[in-house]
Amino acid sequence: MNERILVVEDERQMLRLLGMTLEKEGYRIVAAQTAAAARAQIQAAVPDVVILDVMLPDTSGLDLCRELRQHPATSAVPILMLSAMGQVSDKVAGLKAGADEYVVKPIDSVELVARVGSLLERSRRLRGQARAEPATVVSFLGSKGGVGTTTTLVNVAACLTLEGKRAIAVELRPELGQLQTLLGLSTGDSTRTLFSLEPARIQSTSVSAWIVRHSSGVQVLPAPLGIQPDAHFEPAQAMALVAALKELADVVLLDLPPCPRPETEVAIASSDIVLLNMEPTRLGLESAAALAAYAKAHARPAAKLLVVIINRAPLATPVGVRQIEERLGWVVVGGIPPAPDECARAQQLGAPVVQAAPDSTASQAFKALAQGLLRLTPQA
Ligand SMILES: Nc1ncnc2c1ncn2[C@@H]1O[C@H](COP(=O)(O)OP(=O)(O)OP(=O)(O)O)[C@@H](O)[C@H]1O
Ligand SMILES: [Mg+2]
Repeated sequence: MNERILVVEDERQMLRLLGMTLEKEGYRIVAAQTAAAARAQIQAAVPDVVILDVMLPDTSGLDLCRELRQHPATSAVPILMLSAMGQVSDKVAGLKAGADEYVVKPIDSVELVARVGSLLERSRRLRGQARAEPATVVSFLGSKGGVGTTTTLVNVAACLTLEGKRAIAVELRPELGQLQTLLGLSTGDSTRTLFSLEPARIQSTSVSAWIVRHSSGVQVLPAPLGIQPDAHFEPAQAMALVAALKELADVVLLDLPPCPRPETEVAIASSDIVLLNMEPTRLGLESAAALAAYAKAHARPAAKLLVVIINRAPLATPVGVRQIEERLGWVVVGGIPPAPDECARAQQLGAPVVQAAPDSTASQAFKALAQGLLRLTPQA
């Protein structure tokens, strides 16, 4: 404990109040009433957390926040911004400037202590999680919409979690999220803010605030619900997001939309494994071939390009594994059997199939697929 908190606040009364509240919790407080004084304190020693008022006499708190984010020594220090302005646009401005949290005055001391505590906990976790092995990125690409890609991803993520891996299921799209509904989560459109951040601001500390944990243990970064007007995700943002997620997990599972978008290319180019999910029909094979050619053109030479066959309904004459492998030039790594009842039940419960129906044939297939992927990851 005894973490050092720099409080940058020009109002004496407020400074004293903040200092007393946090000192009672055992933190060491360093005070600065101007941005210049704050810079001097930071130069003397980088604090564990910065609490920063937006209105300072010399520089605006927003500018100082941007400055800290640009400097390598302070780019990852948690920043909690304080302001009298509580409009959504003010909060967005604070977050865009690089703040991790934004608290509106008058400040509730219990809330302040809780927020500082969670910021410190997050950065402690990040420091402790520095890993020798890099995380594995797996892109899940559907050969067309509705083949069962998201269902497969969620269940593979759940199996990896059961194996003790830190898996994050990520919907890499700015709208039309399905993970929240599928897993009974309710983060609404909160991740929308992520898409308005400059790439330099998309770091593991800020991204971890948007990750939610499902009761199965799976970590989820869901896309906003519905159609978002003007929603788009710049490739540089996608790149920063994937890099940030790699710091937070052993396996990052990216759910990509079936129609390639600019961020899809970035995801594929960042992936160690690309999983093409397809149905074993002639039509399925044709669209899989088109997607496979697209993915291969963007994948790294060392990436493993693999196919998962999903049978959502029994087929009298499915296209065979050999034919698929010959046509695509990709290896089939797994097959998921029809499980309409299990999928429906899982959806009702807001849980992965492997949690809702652990003994089903489909659950066995998800486990086998997760095992197959684990064998291809460096941490296995
Ligand atoms: N193995 C399966 N057997 C039967 N039904 C399945 C199976 N896998 C998924 N489904 C069902 O198919 C529907 C579509 O699944 P899912 O949302 O996972 O597909 P998707 O490819 O991600 O779709 P989208 O293109 O909309 O993202 C869902 O109702 C799901 O429950
Ligand atoms: Mg989907």
